[in-house]
Amino acid sequence: MAEIAPSILAADFANLQRDVEMINSSSAGYIHVDIMDGMFVPNISFGLPVCEAIHKHAQKPLDVHLMIEQPDRYLEAFRNAGASVLTVHYEACPHLHRTIQHIKELGAEPGVALNPHTPVEVLSEIMGDVSLILIMSVNPGFGGQKFIENSYRKIAALDAYRKKFGYNFKIEVDGGVNLNNAPRLVREGVDILVAGSFVFTSPDPVQTITELGNS
Ligand code: DX5
Ligand code: ZN
Repeated sequence: MAEIAPSILAADFANLQRDVEMINSSSAGYIHVDIMDGMFVPNISFGLPVCEAIHKHAQKPLDVHLMIEQPDRYLEAFRNAGASVLTVHYEACPHLHRTIQHIKELGAEPGVALNPHTPVEVLSEIMGDVSLILIMSVNPGFGGQKFIENSYRKIAALDAYRKKFGYNFKIEVDGGVNLNNAPRLVREGVDILVAGSFVFTSPDPVQTITELGNS
């Protein structure tokens, strides 16, 4: 069993309210909101006004994934735009401890994301301070990419840290998630599965969210 965070990046942006309401009516635990700045990642997705518009209709907490450089500049703005979880990239934060404290002061849950090449060990001194660790199972920037198999190993290593030291961060995986890899991801220790194209291109997205959740 896992919580599901459908990624709104794969929604129909001309029908955002409809797609948010679909997620509201499903068993999803969160709405995953991907913010891309065209600098940290090559792509630009959308920004604060769209996040606010999603929040206006959302009945699930917003899990905001900041794929942006210098995310400290925008933490408060995204909190005000409705973020419940604020996830920053390790690779974008030279003062990660300060950034995490700032997210907590804003009243949001702090998350840290790792790119595929970044080993989980770099977070060893901060694991006790975060609510969530997000393992990128594709290179961030685009939906619809192929799952990177090495992600299983990273998830297992994080789960081992959690057990050994009694940390209670959740493990989230993002990129190329589908019904083929979800069962093993859950076995290795994932609590939250992000799924974009697999949910939104399926004939029955609500049912697909339920099936992923039962993995
Ligand atoms: C990728 C984003 C993902 C993306 C996942 O940079 O962080 O959240 O929406 O999309 P799929 O599930 O299609 O790989
Ligand atoms: Zn994401």
